[in-house]
Amino acid sequence: MTASSAHTDDVASLPIGMFDSGMGGLTVLHECLVRLPSENFAYVGDTARFPYGEKSRAELELYARQLTAFLETVPVKLVIVACYSATSAALQLLQERFTTPIVGVIMPGARAAVQTSRYRRIGVLATEATVSSGAYPRAIHSLDGGAEVHQQAAPGLVSFIEEGDVASQALADAVRGFAEPLKAKRPDVVILGCTHYPLIAPMLQRFFGRDVTLVNPAAEIAREVEDTLARQGVARTEDRVGSYRFYTTGDVEAFRSVGARFLQMPLTRVRSLPLDTLNGLVAP
Ligand code: DGL
Repeated sequence: MTASSAHTDDVASLPIGMFDSGMGGLTVLHECLVRLPSENFAYVGDTARFPYGEKSRAELELYARQLTAFLETVPVKLVIVACYSATSAALQLLQERFTTPIVGVIMPGARAAVQTSRYRRIGVLATEATVSSGAYPRAIHSLDGGAEVHQQAAPGLVSFIEEGDVASQALADAVRGFAEPLKAKRPDVVILGCTHYPLIAPMLQRFFGRDVTLVNPAAEIAREVEDTLARQGVARTEDRVGSYRFYTTGDVEAFRSVGARFLQMPLTRVRSLPLDTLNGLVAP
């Protein structure tokens, strides 16, 4: 074995790191587990500072730097920013500041939407932070300069879903209020640009109707991560079974029980990650 192949074997055994504002990124982890069952994962949910969708760019940049710095201490072989608001605000900054390869969730969904849209009218449903950053129009226009992009912020929608409400009349009314103005722009593709929306995809599909294709970027990022690991020669061999560990800045038991519902599997290894530890890594 050469020194460099020993090195790539060592890197391959490291987990893939992911972070999100809380539970929502588990929808991204889910897609990764489907596509990459041999990989190990280290997931951080910043539940103490949830929600990110209403935070400023400066706050999101700080949180993203702290969480990436923590994941580098684990250590991990790749970081997935599994939060649309954090990706919109901070992906480029993270890539400039850290040595570990870092990928975000915006571009893979933009690419899938451009490939899927026949009429080049793309809708984006996302948090206020993601919409106001302009990250989706930029990503879509870098691929198709003439595509129409219609964004709709959906403030408050994540709170229903985070609390386990995926079927109430109040949720349906809120969804209708956000979906109708977007539907009026006649997109043929709508990107689910927030971690929580795949959990209400059936409801959204009914509101938008059969002529609209919903894009779940989480499935696209899993595909991109698979390609990236293969190209870098750091994928874990397929005869292995992956393991998962979780960290939360909030309450461990709450994370365990809500996380099990999001992921539909028991979460055994959940550890506390105090905000003081993060503040010690990158000072506010
Ligand atoms: N994870 C956030 C996102 O994808 C949604 C939840 C939140 O606002 O923190 O934008």
